[in-house]
Amino acid sequence: MNSTASPPRIVPSVLPADFSRLGDECRLLERAGVDRIQWDVMDGVFVPNMTMGPDVIASVRPLVDLGFEAHLMVEEPDRMLRHWVDAGCEIIIVHAEATRHLHRTLDAVRELGARAGVALNPATPLSAVEHVLDGIDLLLVMTVNPGWGGQRYLASMEAKISAARDLIARSGRDIELEVDGGIGRGTIAGAARAGATTFCAGSALFRERAHLAEEVTALRALAAQAAPGPASHDKDTKEAA
Ligand code: DX5
Repeated sequence: MNSTASPPRIVPSVLPADFSRLGDECRLLERAGVDRIQWDVMDGVFVPNMTMGPDVIASVRPLVDLGFEAHLMVEEPDRMLRHWVDAGCEIIIVHAEATRHLHRTLDAVRELGARAGVALNPATPLSAVEHVLDGIDLLLVMTVNPGWGGQRYLASMEAKISAARDLIARSGRDIELEVDGGIGRGTIAGAARAGATTFCAGSALFRERAHLAEEVTALRALAAQAAPGPASHDKDTKEAA
């Protein structure tokens, strides 16, 4: 692992959680030592599934001290940006495919005082964000097609993760590189080797509910061991340039 890098972040999605006990589930995640919580917001249009609204997130907000990120799998996210921030989300992740004016949407997120993230579906090229790097704090590379938890990890996305790592390095900006979908003990190393530093996992964590802290520790260790050092990264970058 790169000795100077910050440890890998493990960010559970609460999509597989027991929705009748979300407060208890988020307390369980906090005790297990996760880095933040991801709320998978779905509108039934952008993805063929629906989940929670801002009031659900707001109800859990006072119960834990963890940071919240809203992964907005919704059409026209601009319509409700303030609601997610007011609900207590410090990071708002919009899909590049869901807004006609991504640059304006990202500005609006920052004007609300939140960190701005962009998510890319598997088919969406990295070029969708190359002209808005100044406007983002986080890039989320989807390693499944969004809509459900428990799907198979798309290893083919590792090339996009590496290209994203190199694009971010060339930009000189402090942009967090997160992956989401099918992340578990068997897949996290590949994503880390490719350059991801933040890992969203749902099923892999909730499957191990009885040993959650151990699972969080194990995932973080697997990612740290696989993470490229600065030397290997510089070499890759020179080759990619
Ligand atoms: C996409 C969702 C899922 C969820 C995690 O629909 O964003 O990726 O967060 O899912 P698993 O269970 O694959 O970790």
